[in-house]
Order: sequence, then C-alpha cells, then structure tokens
Amino acid sequence: LRILCVVGARPNFMKIAPILTALKAHAPAVEARLLHTGQHYDVAMNSQYFEALGIPAPDDNLEVGSGSHAAQTAEVMLRVEKVIDQYAPDALLVVGDVNSTLACALVAAKKGIAVVHVEAGLRSGDRAMPEEINRVLTDQLSDLLFTTEEGAFDNLRAEGVAAERIHFVGNVMIDTLLHNLPRAVPATSLAAQHGRPGFGAGPGGYGVLTLHRPSNVDQPETLAALLDTALRIGATTPLMFPVHPRTRAAIERFGLGGRLDAAAILPMPPLGYLEMLGLMKDARVVLTDSGGIQEETTALGVPCITLRENTERPITVEQGTNTIAGTDPARILALHAALLADGGKRDRQPRHWDGQAAVRIAAILLDWLERRRGGGHG
Ligand code: UD1
Repeated sequence: LRILCVVGARPNFMKIAPILTALKAHAPAVEARLLHTGQHYDVAMNSQYFEALGIPAPDDNLEVGSGSHAAQTAEVMLRVEKVIDQYAPDALLVVGDVNSTLACALVAAKKGIAVVHVEAGLRSGDRAMPEEINRVLTDQLSDLLFTTEEGAFDNLRAEGVAAERIHFVGNVMIDTLLHNLPRAVPATSLAAQHGRPGFGAGPGGYGVLTLHRPSNVDQPETLAALLDTALRIGATTPLMFPVHPRTRAAIERFGLGGRLDAAAILPMPPLGYLEMLGLMKDARVVLTDSGGIQEETTALGVPCITLRENTERPITVEQGTNTIAGTDPARILALHAALLADGGKRDRQPRHWDGQAAVRIAAILLDWLERRRGGGHG
C-alpha cells in the first residue's frame, strides 16, 4: 500500500512526524512517501522543524513558495498532479487546514485517489478565515476523516459527511508535544541567546506572544493596538515574541518597529520546535492568534489568551486553559490581570490527547485500505 503524505506549512510538520513513524512501523506492507509543497521555505519556518522532529527529508519538494491564495493553491495543484500520476498512491494523506492541504486533496479526489484528512471537522464558523474555507472543502473531498475532539463529529454530520467515515482518534500535534517535551530548550537559554540574559527571570516569570493571522497583522491600526496592548502586559509579564515573517514584514511596512524596542518585550526570529516548546512550557501566560498553540497550551496546562474572536478548537476553552479574548485591548488586559490573580493553570486533558493518536490513525487507515483493496469500496 502506498500512502502519499503531504506537508506544506509549519504547523503541518508537527502533525506529520508521528504519522510517518506510525506508518513506517507497518513497512514493508506499507510505503509512506513524504511530499513537501514548499509553501513555507525559510530555514526558520522549515528545515529547523524537520531536523528537530526527526522528519526525513521529503521525497518530493514542489517549491511553490509564497503568492496570492489563488496563485499558491493553483501552483500546488499543478505540481502535485505530476507526483500523483507518477507515484500512483493508494491514498493521499493531508493534515490541518493550510492552502497546501486543500490543493492536494482536490487534485487527488478528482483522480479517484482516496483522500485522508487528519484534523478534520474543526469549525470556527468564520469564513473570513482562509483556513475555514480550506477545512470545509477538504472535509467534503475526504474519504476518511480523523478528528481531534468529539465536537468535530457533529460539525461534519451537519455538512452531510457519512458517520462511518469519521473516526475520533485524538491529536497528533499532542503526540509530538508529549514525545518531545523532555528535549524542550529552556527559555532562559533563549533569552541569553537573543542578547537579553535574565529577561523574564526564568520559569513562570515571563509570557509568550505570537501573531500572524492576516486579520491581526495586515492592518496598521489593528497591529499597532495589539503591540501597544502587549507592551502594557509586558510591564508586569515580560513577553518573549517570536515574530512570524508575515508579521515582521507588516511591522516594517507600517513603521511600527520602534514599539518593539522596549524593556517589556523581546522580539526574536521564528523559533525551532524545541525552542518554542521550552518557551511555552514555562510561561505564565501565552497570548496568541495561532490555532495549534491553543491546543499545545492546553496540553501543557499553561493559560492561553487567544487574540481572535472565535476558535475552531472549542475543547481548549471547555476543558483546557484557553480563553477567547478578541482584540479589544481592555478585554485582553482584564483577562491578563484576572489570570495573574488566580494563576489560571488547569491540568484537565481532552480525551485521547495521550500521545497515541497517530498509532490509532495508522491502524484504522490500513484496515480501511485493505478492505477497500479487497473489494467493496468502503
Ligand atoms: C500559513 C497558513 C496558516 C498557518 C501559518 C503558520 C494558509 C492559508 N495559512 O499562513 O494557517 O497558521 O501558515 O505559519 O495556508 N513567508 C516567508 N517565509 C516562509 C513562508 C512565508 O517569508 O517560509 C512570508 C511571505 O512573505 C508570505 C507570508 O509569509 O507572503 C505568508 O506566508 P503564507 O504561506 O502565505 O501564509 P502564512 O501567513 O504563513
């Protein structure tokens, strides 16, 4: 059985690592080939992650790079078609919700190749997010859908996806987190490395900020207000701020760089996986607009303030450490103050976030493919 596994952007890398390991445990009956679309290409966004996570070099790299959504998606489609034709996989496996996910699923589905979506059924209900469109369409194209939280089942059923295609397996991103936690790089060494030894005064003394959503960083007023809010929080909780390339470009374009030149904030380049893990693990609070970080902080029991109006990962709010803050400065500051008062830590874990999600996926997928090959298309 040949399975073509796709990655494109940073959050995909953490998800594919345990899946590749779980599939390779079934060799030689199964052959897993890794295709990288090249949506993310900077060393900091890319090869650092492959190395830290022990992901093998991709068998194919489509090197699509950046572009408008249409250009990026179309370029992936054109280039992946050739690989699918040559390799003729039994299934194409995609993770997450980035443009590469949808582009590859669409090409495979039309060629009659089984499409497998890991992290299916998450919905923010907000179609202004490009990822929401990618999620809805990828799920419609998928033959087999693996979910991270139980509510995803109802989201998929409401969109007409047959129940027998949906499998609740847990969270592969958390497989990776649990596996790598012992190797996390301590935050103190990062502060020193970036020229500010003693910044944040060690475990529990600092917070983490990440921003990259177009809705937060593409308009100067929104971005300036968020940075000002971060500076005010930084006065009590110094903030380490790994800056996404999109955000760095926006800060330069809008002339907001001066705001980062402050005692309360430590900007740094995008970090490797083990550095980011170390940073989150010992943080007093994480402020973010990322999807994955909402889940990672829940797994770590670290309070998370999400700088968005909604989340596609409600379990992190219901059972985890996450609070949806939006972008109103007063609300963000109030949440931060409340959290300082009560500590905000919780250690309840969502079901199946136990490090075994990828093993479950491999077992279900192989069984399904065997049965499909044996006759009735199931
Ligand atoms: C993408 C995903 C998003 C994910 C994020 C994680 C989509 C629609 N969005 O957003 O869901 O949370 O990745 O990082 O797929 N750039 C570089 N170097 C790189 C990659 C990007 O400099 O290696 C810059 C380019 O200026 C590019 C911009 O970042 O135009 C945006 O990159 P893109 O891949 O389009 O989307 P992200 O914002 O990274």
